[in-house]
Amino acid sequence: MILVVGGAGYIGSHSVRELLDQQYQVVVLDNLSTGHRDAVDSRAVFVEGNLGDLEVLNHVFSTYQIEAVMHFAANSLVGESVINPLKYYQNNVSATLTLLEVMLQHDVKKFIFSSTAATYGIPNVDLITEGTETNPINPYGQSKLMVEKVIHDCHLAYGLSYVVLRYFNAAGAHVTGEIGEDHTPESHLIPIILQHLLGQRENITVFGDDYSTHDGTCIRDYIHITDLAEAHILSLKSLLENNQLTETYNLGNGQGYSVKEIIEMCEKVTGIKANVIIGDRRPGDPASLIASSEKIYNNLHWKTKYNLEEIIQTAWNWHKNNPIGFQK
Ligand code: UFG
Repeated sequence: MILVVGGAGYIGSHSVRELLDQQYQVVVLDNLSTGHRDAVDSRAVFVEGNLGDLEVLNHVFSTYQIEAVMHFAANSLVGESVINPLKYYQNNVSATLTLLEVMLQHDVKKFIFSSTAATYGIPNVDLITEGTETNPINPYGQSKLMVEKVIHDCHLAYGLSYVVLRYFNAAGAHVTGEIGEDHTPESHLIPIILQHLLGQRENITVFGDDYSTHDGTCIRDYIHITDLAEAHILSLKSLLENNQLTETYNLGNGQGYSVKEIIEMCEKVTGIKANVIIGDRRPGDPASLIASSEKIYNNLHWKTKYNLEEIIQTAWNWHKNNPIGFQK
């Protein structure tokens, strides 16, 4: 079975769905602090608990025959991490050490770790490769990079085989419209725009239009959540075939869109005009983050299937049909 830690969250739940659709058996461990019970496919075994809880972990690893672990559980708000770094080092780093310890005690040595473009900080290249220098500028990015280093040391010392996936901007929803993005509070651009277009917010604030980009607003690389999930399946397959894997992959579309372009695409998809305010820059926002995903394309033949319009269309279907997310 595959253990998915954080499988009730946005990226975790879409990956669980993909695993089950491809006939893997799945155990989800999630404390539901930010995830949703209803996001977890009913075909998966669900265990509610903390990833730093020795008792729960020992129960999971002794009850189920775990072949590999996918670890999505983390706090991921950049701003919050600056204000409360210990929360991030505790939940993202320390709890992960406990997970790794128990995994290794139970001789489970295959690990897929959710990392982030935030490990690169403010890169000085247009297209970020896995070789681009890492230099996080906030505790969130720092916490993820720390775990990356711990994982590598675990490879050297205990033979842990791993794939680290550095996500760029995950967006969109499952094509069935059954699961999608539901954060409280919501801080991500696309759901904020769509909530506004649904009448749930009065306007949208663009965080700065004086960046050195073609229209002055920040550029990001948006990637569909199911494309991300598919990269996890391919990574898992490669791990199951290889006991000595130490790979790190970027996951993005390789194409950047500015905040203004995202708003325009949301208007096009929904047919509704947005009320846009230009505000101050948000602290810690790099002007542009675009991934080169050549490495995973070359190694695992992963390719994205969804373009920006499809990303926004699937997100719109989800938000329109679930205006209060997973709440009933
Ligand atoms: N933005 C706005 N207005 C909003 C919300 C966002 O203008 O109301 C802008 C942001 O300033 C940024 C872009 O839209 O330029 C995208 O912002 P998001 O918050 O959606 O995403 P980020 O790029 O800030 O964050 C993502 C992940 C983080 C990760 C980070 C790496 O969500 O987990 O990339 O830099 F840390």
